[in-house]
Amino acid sequence: MTAQATSFMGTVPDEYDRGLGPVIFVDFGADIARRVAASGAMRVLEIAAGTGIVTRQLRDLLPTAAHLTATDLNPPMLEVARTKFRPGEQVDFQPADATVLPFPDAGFDAVLCQFGVMFFPDKEKSYREVHRVLVPRGHYFFSVWDSHRHNPFGRLAHEIIGGFFPADPPQFYQVPFGYHLIDPIKDSLMDAEFTDIEVAVLGVEKNIPDVASFARGLVYGSPVIDQIRERHCRNLGRCPSPRIWRRSGANADAGNHIQGEEALGYG
Ligand SMILES: C[S@@+](CC[C@H](N)C(=O)[O-])C[C@H]1O[C@@H](n2cnc3c(N)ncnc32)[C@H](O)[C@@H]1O
Repeated sequence: MTAQATSFMGTVPDEYDRGLGPVIFVDFGADIARRVAASGAMRVLEIAAGTGIVTRQLRDLLPTAAHLTATDLNPPMLEVARTKFRPGEQVDFQPADATVLPFPDAGFDAVLCQFGVMFFPDKEKSYREVHRVLVPRGHYFFSVWDSHRHNPFGRLAHEIIGGFFPADPPQFYQVPFGYHLIDPIKDSLMDAEFTDIEVAVLGVEKNIPDVASFARGLVYGSPVIDQIRERHCRNLGRCPSPRIWRRSGANADAGNHIQGEEALGYG
């Protein structure tokens, strides 16, 4: 895992939220938010909350008295998330590394994390941290992407972007789709003392209303754009004007099948 793969900064948060959010995050967000709300948790922690796509849906589903804390490694992602809430709506936003959670033991009834675990450099440590901050019999809800095979948009993004740099293809799109084997994930959860683990494989089929916007999001809305820029500058021996980056996002016949996995463990 390179630090570059976790660098959701600069213009990435806005591009992510606009280009990728409505296509690949919002539907799974509705599902995980519904599961968390149904658990009856009143003290909820979200880790790797990003631009607040799940946070927004969850706040709408939780009772007003429930306390929601939303965290992410990258403050610029949380800045976009904040804009989704009206004054008076309770959400505590706080930057936090999911592998070193700045919270006392047993302070939350539920922790959730949508499509974030793949980016954590030490996943086992993150599971132990989540277990530590959960009350006994608390719940951890998290999701990971299935492989490229089941998510053609990820495979195509990886292959098309790599085609521009055959000698040194950017590897970013291996990261989100590279942590999907259920048994090793279950083993890691059990090592962190989670019990009663449930796994669901969810598939979403949807039409992409604005393919150009989605393709743009796949390039500009993730840290892959930094890997592209770095290689382009290196190849040219200088950095070109920002206009040239537009070419990369021109077209993506991304397919419309999207598949993720969700795991639920009891602390
Ligand atoms: C694909 S986004 C998912 C964001 C959000 N959960 C959603 O569903 O839209 C991955 C997020 O993981 C965050 N992240 C990466 N490494 C992290 C870490 N070590 N601790 C906390 N968040 C991290 C990134 O900043 C990014 O916001």
